[in-house]
Amino acid sequence: MKNVLILASGEGSNFEAIIKYFKKLKREDINFKLICNRENANVFKRAQKLNIEANYLKFSDFDDFFRTRKFDLVVMAGFDRILDESIIKSNVFINIHPSILPKYKGLNAIKKAFVNHDELSGITVHYATKDVDEGEIIYQKSLKINPKWSLKKLENEIHKLEHYYYPRIIEKLLTLNVLVIGSGAREHCIAEKISNSKFLNKLYLADCNDGFCHLGEKIEYVDYFDLALKAKEKNINLAIVGSEKYLSEGICNIFKKQNIKIIGANKKTAKLESSKLYAKKLMKKYGIKTAPYKKIKFKKDIDKFLSYFKNPVIKADGLALGKGVYINSDKNKVKNELFNYLSGKFQEASKTCLIEEKLFGYEVSLFSFWDGQNLIHLPLCQDFKQNDDGLNTGGLASICPVYIGSENNIKLEKYKNKINKMLKTEKINCPFILYSGLIITKDDIYVLEYNVRLGDPETQVLLNYIENDWLEIFFAQANKMLDFVQLKEVNKETTCVVMASRGYPLKTRKNIEINNIIYDKNAKIYFSNVKKENEKLYSMGGRVLSVVSFDKNLIYKILDNIDFEEKIFKENVEIIM
Ligand code: AMP
Ligand code: GLY
Repeated sequence: MKNVLILASGEGSNFEAIIKYFKKLKREDINFKLICNRENANVFKRAQKLNIEANYLKFSDFDDFFRTRKFDLVVMAGFDRILDESIIKSNVFINIHPSILPKYKGLNAIKKAFVNHDELSGITVHYATKDVDEGEIIYQKSLKINPKWSLKKLENEIHKLEHYYYPRIIEKLLTLNVLVIGSGAREHCIAEKISNSKFLNKLYLADCNDGFCHLGEKIEYVDYFDLALKAKEKNINLAIVGSEKYLSEGICNIFKKQNIKIIGANKKTAKLESSKLYAKKLMKKYGIKTAPYKKIKFKKDIDKFLSYFKNPVIKADGLALGKGVYINSDKNKVKNELFNYLSGKFQEASKTCLIEEKLFGYEVSLFSFWDGQNLIHLPLCQDFKQNDDGLNTGGLASICPVYIGSENNIKLEKYKNKINKMLKTEKINCPFILYSGLIITKDDIYVLEYNVRLGDPETQVLLNYIENDWLEIFFAQANKMLDFVQLKEVNKETTCVVMASRGYPLKTRKNIEINNIIYDKNAKIYFSNVKKENEKLYSMGGRVLSVVSFDKNLIYKILDNIDFEEKIFKENVEIIM
């Protein structure tokens, strides 16, 4: 049980917004109380209606009151007195102020912005100190003032912001219950970052592998509906989805119906990844460059359609576990493979295909976090998909950051503006991660593909290269607060090398013991296809683990040392340009 005290003096609209927000979340583990320093304030009526314990307390008695009481948080919501240092030190106090501090501290902040014909107004949530409207800023949101607005209208707009953001900040400060869904090294990395967050109350995991299940409490479930109900029971504030499989099956739609915040594309948005044709159509609509293509459904068209392309690449329209692209300079092989695709090599996913022109250049991945309003971009990284036999894998290594030079950077900025416009105009309102697979050719930047999630193994480098509190970023994303996130880069190139099983991405052996993993404070190890039995670790085939560090020698020292019969990994990983 968490105890939150709200301090108010007057109308109590912020008080009401806070209580209603938590009632809607059905959070019975948080106990709210109200203290008001004005006997006849309207806030008492609201408290009565909302069934919240409310008491009048003379301001002169505040010192005594706080000396003996400890709350998880004290929230000042329209409280009109200045608190002494002795009181402020007794608990954690936060305050909301209707301006972008440090502008207009004290009374009448909205009116001052209005009479001064300011272009911007806004709100600031901050820790309270003994000085008025000072203290560390937790969140700010600015608002463009329309010159036609009356003062009343401006006040209303400011109150709307207060009522939206203040309860969410309180939710975060009370610490969060988080669910990470997925089984790979990517999810291990996400779970590890969350587990180190100062905003975490409890971590839950669904489908975790034995290499990282110890980081949280595992939830077993029958279907997504069942998982959502269990998440609700456990007061989960935020769920984070790793793999496209869940997204294309509509997990986010189900969670949203249960009013549980979830980071991930809903079913419709997931089509950006699960239908290459849909993605191509959107790219065309927003002037985003991509390889010319043709849709093909019937085998009788194979010869004719292939003849339109100099170097044809074939792609299954639907999801094919990252294996749906076929590239070969031998046109006969391409023709045969296209025949296989259309015959159902990837079942329904390849009954419709695309033929597209091969582009020449180097590839980078751009991860863009969208919260429904704001878009922020992570530094570029590179992912090494091909194995030594030229086969496409899920990814065998990754490096971050990748610098592409000033001319390309200008093109990249233009591209970022285009995706921002696309997400806004298409009214995509789910928080998700747009993963642009880009190729930088001599003349421009082209999109090879879209995914709607973090990449594996790109996550392993990105989440280590950016040293922010990652739960704070994900929570901001789920609550339309990404505009206040400042990414902090560690400025040391970060590399991830994957250890896989011999034969990957084709058939691999299972149940092979893994020994001699050395742990070093300068490296992270994230597990994917492993299981534990009697404290022994076994590979279950495919990709087995990822080693991440700023120190490449250390990565290879760890990999060389691992005792695993089927071990393969990429040597000498370097950025390719
Ligand atoms: P995708 O599954 O679309 O990411 O494609 C997998 C990989 O195939 C990409 O990372 C590229 O290496 C390659 N690829 C896909 N389309 C093209 C293309 N039009 N030109 C060159 N390479 C491509
Ligand atoms: N690294 C490629 C992917 O996650 O799809």
